[in-house]
Amino acid sequence: TASTNTTAPPPSPPHRILTQDELKKIAAYKAVEFVESGMVLGLGTGSTAKHAIDRIGELLHQGKLTNIIGVPTSTKTHEQALSLGIPLSDLETHPVLDLAIDGADEVDPDMNLVKGRGGSLLREKMIEACCKQFVVIVDESKLVEYVGGSGLALPVEIVPFCWRFTAKKLEAMFENAGCVAKLRVLENGEAYVTDNRNYIIDLYFKKDIGDLRAAGDAMVRLAGVVEHGMFIDMATTLIVAGELGVTVRNK
Ligand code: 5RP
Repeated sequence: TASTNTTAPPPSPPHRILTQDELKKIAAYKAVEFVESGMVLGLGTGSTAKHAIDRIGELLHQGKLTNIIGVPTSTKTHEQALSLGIPLSDLETHPVLDLAIDGADEVDPDMNLVKGRGGSLLREKMIEACCKQFVVIVDESKLVEYVGGSGLALPVEIVPFCWRFTAKKLEAMFENAGCVAKLRVLENGEAYVTDNRNYIIDLYFKKDIGDLRAAGDAMVRLAGVVEHGMFIDMATTLIVAGELGVTVRNK
């Protein structure tokens, strides 16, 4: 009698959970697909943007992208782009940019962002406000129901002069949202200093702060505040990498 071989096929390898950094890289590489030769690019700051800049450098070296000019949003990004041989410029020479690619700390359902946990919010906002297209790249952990919804801080750049006074004023401004204002410090206890020689105050909220535009306007009206980390209605494209794949959403 003929025997039937009923050996089961070998089990497929268990699905490996991607690391957060791998997800960031997937989002970053997807964003670089939007880059075309001849573009002036805003180069973001942070671990996600770093992957995008590495990829742009790689494509330049392979000759797959040509005539790219980058406008870096921090000294760190400036150094990275220089090391990759990406030609650089600034807003004075290139006041209108074709596209910026940058990460975010939080993204709400309307694509409003919190940025600045990497400390570069001022230059990021100045540059990204001048871009025809602003592509935000995140892994899915950055998606929140509302700004402040991650329980992490909303960064605000302030001048060092009488910083305690400014911090108290900010706390009082958002008293109803249970705001606590903390000076950002380094591991050695010294104040973190931004590229613009300012300080960062991290605001923690117990409740939703409500109208983001009103909150932002109130903050920048306070003398001593340079800029806040809410990027309201600025992102034009959102790329989210998650375990189930990558999604691209345009505004
Ligand atoms: C720096 C930023 C960064 O884009 C933000 O902190 C996200 O960083 P990462 O990509 O490392 O998660 O706003 O000021």
